[in-house]
Amino acid sequence: MTDSELVEKTIAFVREELAQAEGGHDWFHIERVFKNTLLIAKDEPVDVLVVSLAALLHDIADPKFHGGDEEIGPRKAASFMKSLGIRAEVHSHVVDIVRRMSFKNTLEGNAGKESRELQVVRDADRLDAMGAIGIARAFNFGGHKGRPLYDPEVAPRVGMTKADYKKSNGPTLNHFYEKLLLLKDLMHTETGKRLAAGRHAFMLEYLEAFYAEWSGRA
Ligand code: ADP
Ligand code: NI
Repeated sequence: MTDSELVEKTIAFVREELAQAEGGHDWFHIERVFKNTLLIAKDEPVDVLVVSLAALLHDIADPKFHGGDEEIGPRKAASFMKSLGIRAEVHSHVVDIVRRMSFKNTLEGNAGKESRELQVVRDADRLDAMGAIGIARAFNFGGHKGRPLYDPEVAPRVGMTKADYKKSNGPTLNHFYEKLLLLKDLMHTETGKRLAAGRHAFMLEYLEAFYAEWSGRA
């Protein structure tokens, strides 16, 4: 199979697998991350097949909905790529990226040496947690968990460990300070940094309007 046939087959598989997924991690999230990945990859010396497959497979199974099993995603990605007969180096590189992608896993500080391919896909995924889309995803997540939008009495917690982050159940506005506003400085690529700057500025503007409306100043 050509690379573009492999990508097409992967798209079809992911769409089917995520048909019932919730709004934050559905096919459209994958499609946005895939597009951002290709955009970022244009200016990076990366293997386009690796970043394409990793972007498409990175959320194939969310541990949150599988009893916290963090190996289920990498395992599913691996067995799908096996069924396509993907060559060994590409296969193992993609599985490694899927395993190491999430924000939680970078809180541990045990990242080790990261490939540029991993960094490209991670930047693309992080961009989708920022800006207008990121705000929508955060409130969607908070709503799903039945959390308040905001509570002036509950302070955000910074510098959380992976365990704290997973347990965190504060109001959704706190998530901006616990994660979303930190992402800009974690970008690896030039394109990622440029896009993140715009999305970051938009979130700050959004927060200002939120507080103004909350307190009756607007
Ligand atoms: P990651 O895999 O990077 O840890 P998640 O799967 O936790 O990311 O997050 C998926 C989406 O839900 C993101 O847009 C993220 O910002 C949002 N989200 C995660 N945790 C919270 C939270 N406590 N409050 C609001 N949104 C959240
Ligand atoms: Ni994702």
